[in-house]
Amino acid sequence: MDNNNRRIALVTGSTGGLGTAICQKLHDEGFRVAANFNNPDKAKKWYEAQQAAGYTFDMFQGNVSDYESVGMMVKEIEEKIGSVDVLVNNAGITRDRPFHKMSKEDWDAVIATNLTSVFNCCRHLIDGMRTRNYGRIINISSVNGQRGQFGQANYSAAKAGMHGFTKTLAVETARKGITVNTISPGYVATDMVMAVAEEVRNQIIEGIPVGRLGGTEEIAHLVSFLASEKAGFITGANYAINGGQHMY
Ligand code: CAA
Repeated sequence: MDNNNRRIALVTGSTGGLGTAICQKLHDEGFRVAANFNNPDKAKKWYEAQQAAGYTFDMFQGNVSDYESVGMMVKEIEEKIGSVDVLVNNAGITRDRPFHKMSKEDWDAVIATNLTSVFNCCRHLIDGMRTRNYGRIINISSVNGQRGQFGQANYSAAKAGMHGFTKTLAVETARKGITVNTISPGYVATDMVMAVAEEVRNQIIEGIPVGRLGGTEEIAHLVSFLASEKAGFITGANYAINGGQHMY
């Protein structure tokens, strides 16, 4: 498809497990994908691997936890490829420790990368979306933002915070053709989940009724559904996608 006619989707944290699957799926669905990264060395290798697999993405560096950095990245995207129609706030980190061992740095890093990043990206893109009367914002939260998880006071707080943010922004932008939704994946086969000690991870998997980890492509499928033009009546929603691990 002609690049000029493709809707542009910005995916933060593109080089991670979920980010990769989301970029690929949106590309397959016809989007021009602006892939955000923060680590140039990792991004270079990732880009080459994606090209080898038949995917061409437009790469943009930016630290999502830094307001100014995101502002510069958005300006660069607009100058080089155009206005962003779809924003997927996917970037996230963990610093898992029981709360009595959690440092202020562990707390600040996770809140900044997982939650303040959502403010930073939305704030820099919302004026353009409002002007154009169109936008799709998809925030990647977690099952652990819906329930407590041993070792994740920082992560759970950030991921739960996304829900309040999503609902308010959805209300404020509903008349402007912009939808804002949250997806709450459970345990998916990514490096982040594989970093959990095997014994702990196996116990977690035992508690998933479907009996396995999720696939990254299963999450990406839901993202692409919410990113589509036809999903215009869905806003302020939270989609649980966790193999039945948590039902509410
Ligand atoms: N519930 C209650 N007690 C628990 C527990 C749980 N789920 N897990 C461990 N404990 C207990 C242990 O039995 C042990 O007790 P004793 O001291 O009496 O023996 C104690 O807590 C272990 O405490 P430690 O201080 O030794 O803990 P630690 O410093 O080794 O840290 C941990 C443990 C790293 C947090 C580990 O529990 C862990 O990795 N938990 C899983 C965290 C997790 O699920 N992270 C998700 C990452 S993926 C992701 O985040 C993506 C997503 O959205 C799903």
